[in-house]
Amino acid sequence: MNKKILVTGGLGYIGSHTVVALQQSGYEVVIIDDLSNSELFVLDRISEITGIQPDFHPIDLKETEAVNDFFETAKIDGVIHFAAHKAVGESVEKPLMYFRNNILGLVNVLEAMKKNSIDNFIFSSSCTVYGQADKMPIDENAPIKKAESPYAKTKQMGEEILEDFVSAYDKNVISLRYFNPVGAHPSALIGELPKGIPNNLVPFVTQTAAGIREQLSVFGDDYPTRDGTAIRDYIYVCDLADAHVKALNRLLEKKNSEPLEVFNLGTGVGSTVLEVIKTFEKVNGLNLNYRIVGRRAGDITEAFADNRKAARELGWEPKTSLDESMRTAWEWQKTL
Ligand code: UD1
Repeated sequence: MNKKILVTGGLGYIGSHTVVALQQSGYEVVIIDDLSNSELFVLDRISEITGIQPDFHPIDLKETEAVNDFFETAKIDGVIHFAAHKAVGESVEKPLMYFRNNILGLVNVLEAMKKNSIDNFIFSSSCTVYGQADKMPIDENAPIKKAESPYAKTKQMGEEILEDFVSAYDKNVISLRYFNPVGAHPSALIGELPKGIPNNLVPFVTQTAAGIREQLSVFGDDYPTRDGTAIRDYIYVCDLADAHVKALNRLLEKKNSEPLEVFNLGTGVGSTVLEVIKTFEKVNGLNLNYRIVGRRAGDITEAFADNRKAARELGWEPKTSLDESMRTAWEWQKTL
């Protein structure tokens, strides 16, 4: 019998790519998603890619009883928990909504795991937990800085909750700290689906290229970097998905060295905003309408990963170039 894995938020951006990777690795997948920031058609797209329609339950993880009912009947071997709100600006305006959704949803899932003796859990964390780190590249021992936003707090608090969860109930958890996920599946059947005006750079770039947005604003060219624009570590979404499969294998094979392990997932290479734009233009043969404006509040100068722990322990290495990420991002945008 194949192992059965629950993927919460499995119709979302990183979740859907991870569902595909899990199915292609022989796992049986069941998805919970409340469709608050995703679309039902993604389910069909997943089965178009893999030939397997995943079991789907439209459950809101804030509903404690619905979560318990689900866990009582589904025989689950592990959980990958993506379901969460993720817009930084929105979290500043609606912090309680973020705490209710991201924290209560997490606690409900963990409680149901405890009740049903499910031992393995993978958490979607973020490099945002480091804030502006003192040195680059950022390794997993870099101090956790005071969070800049309620969203970032929910990721920090999530990891703290998991620390107590593993020690009190003898569970195994891997927390994956993503840098900046970009790109889309090579089939162009799934990708990022931002609602409204995108906050993140790459969807704004592709929407500008598509004529949906008139102009891209580059937030600041007075940072102390090689071209004055801010530096991030853009990691291809299918490489990220692959890391989840490797983390899951590690837990199911009981190869983890501690009950709670943390891994950075990034390429190890930082790119400036202008380098991202130039790459996008080059690989897709397009000119992007952009202009330099002032800095965005709350932005840091640079963040890129030391990813050697993931290479060493998970056997994971990013395989995909920024060129390929930008090409797939545009292929996906063209289908929308
Ligand atoms: C943001 C969040 C981070 C979250 C991540 C995942 C902030 C401060 N951080 O990361 O907590 O985990 O998204 O979604 O919001 N940029 C432009 N023009 C744009 C959009 C972005 O110049 O229209 C620049 C930004 O200033 C930044 C870079 O592009 O330098 C990347 O921005 P973005 O994609 O929003 O990611 P982060 O800010 O790194």
